[in-house]
Amino acid sequence: MKISSKNTKIAICGLGYVGFPVALLFAEAGFEVIGVNRSGEKIKLINRGGSPIEGKEPGLKELIKKVRKSGLFTATTDETAYKDADIVIVAVETPVEDDTHEPAYRALKAALTSIGRNLRKDALVIIESTIAPGTMENIVKVILEQESGMEVGQDFMLANCPERLMPGHLLENIINYNRVIGAQDEKTTDTVKSLYKYIVKGKLDTTSWVTAEIVKAGENAYRDVQIAFANEMALLCEAMGADVWQVRDLINECKRKGETRFEALRQMHYPGAGVGGHCLPKDSWLLVYGAKGLIEPQIIPLARKINNFMPKHVFDLLSESFKQANKDINKAKIVVLGYAYAGNSDDSRNTPTEALIKLLGETQATVVIQDPFVKEYKTSLDKSLKGAHAIILMADHDQYKNINYNKLKRLMKTPRIVIDGRNVFSKDKVLKAGFIYKGVGNI
Ligand SMILES: NC(=O)c1ccc[n+]([C@@H]2O[C@H](COP(=O)([O-])OP(=O)(O)OC[C@H]3O[C@@H](n4cnc5c(N)ncnc54)[C@H](O)[C@@H]3O)[C@@H](O)[C@H]2O)c1
Repeated sequence: MKISSKNTKIAICGLGYVGFPVALLFAEAGFEVIGVNRSGEKIKLINRGGSPIEGKEPGLKELIKKVRKSGLFTATTDETAYKDADIVIVAVETPVEDDTHEPAYRALKAALTSIGRNLRKDALVIIESTIAPGTMENIVKVILEQESGMEVGQDFMLANCPERLMPGHLLENIINYNRVIGAQDEKTTDTVKSLYKYIVKGKLDTTSWVTAEIVKAGENAYRDVQIAFANEMALLCEAMGADVWQVRDLINECKRKGETRFEALRQMHYPGAGVGGHCLPKDSWLLVYGAKGLIEPQIIPLARKINNFMPKHVFDLLSESFKQANKDINKAKIVVLGYAYAGNSDDSRNTPTEALIKLLGETQATVVIQDPFVKEYKTSLDKSLKGAHAIILMADHDQYKNINYNKLKRLMKTPRIVIDGRNVFSKDKVLKAGFIYKGVGNI
């Protein structure tokens, strides 16, 4: 297939945090793009030139308007749209089951079934979703061949090119991150490379399906394990009366004169109130699942356990603060700042705040959640804070970084407890202003 923005049609299956910006960038590059998504409401919004993604996403709202105007991007729920596509990119969700942590591939399997049934001869299918190692060979290839009656390598091409973006930086990340392309033959590798060159400025590395799968799940498991280490250090610092943020700075200073932080051998991650999002909490499990029956990973599941414990730890810091103040938590108003899992994003999938809310729900306290980016919790900050006995910061949204401590003091009631899960507040200033303060890793 000769890739040219003039005569190559692209279908994107799944218009979420990944598929939506990818579709817009290909349309901006001049390709005719059709986005296929199950939800009719989302399709209507997109076709009106709206963005289904809230939060600070530089350039996204402008880009959807631009590509809708150009006529190069349309969205539909009609799965027969794959029939006209030279290239189909799959970006559907790939969660894990709550109890077994095994992949819950319902969306992926349904997507592959309808793509297979409508696949053109000589088309190229690319999986951008994050999948467990072995999924390309054992699930993707099998379903596509079964449903299309065609053979990979002979009648159509199949590759994976896992996405690397973070909500809050969607377009910038797609454009600038290096990418890994997994393919099993030279023709497919070259075709995928020539396609992504239209939207990616980063390096395009090429390898096999399984290596690309391991790289993607592995890079997120790496972060999860590193964050677990930082969280364990936070607990250790609290117990020993040290400030984990100072400890972290000094550990990361272990480098030669002139060496940048990227060259340094030690790069301790941030501790915090927990790990959330669609990816980190489940990609570790996807990696573990890939190795099932071969080896039993130890450190990755342990990291999951440590990170899952952090919202409970935040709750414990709150309970201790009430005890210290000799006040009954059950009669208090507690304000949770930030429902999304990440700063300046609306993404609340697997948010650690949910686990915290559950624990708060076991008390009789009045709990108010405020988040400037999440629809259900977009109440005025001042109104939410009024009369609060305690606040718990769970997401480092910019709005919280500018809170004036004197004003906060006026709005809140004694004992005025501040629990900082993201190192947003200045401990010294908060204490000076007369609050009770406990931060993760610095109490
Ligand atoms: N969100 C991230 O930060 C991120 C980053 C890198 C990789 N990923 C991976 O990319 C994939 C997609 O993640 P996301 O965050 O965009 O998910 P998402 O839930 O935001 O979007 C998925 C979309 O696919 C749609 N969908 C599901 N089944 C479908 C089907 N059969 N046909 C058509 N549409 C269907 C859903 O309705 C939804 O709109 C996942 O595998 C994820 O792990 C996500």
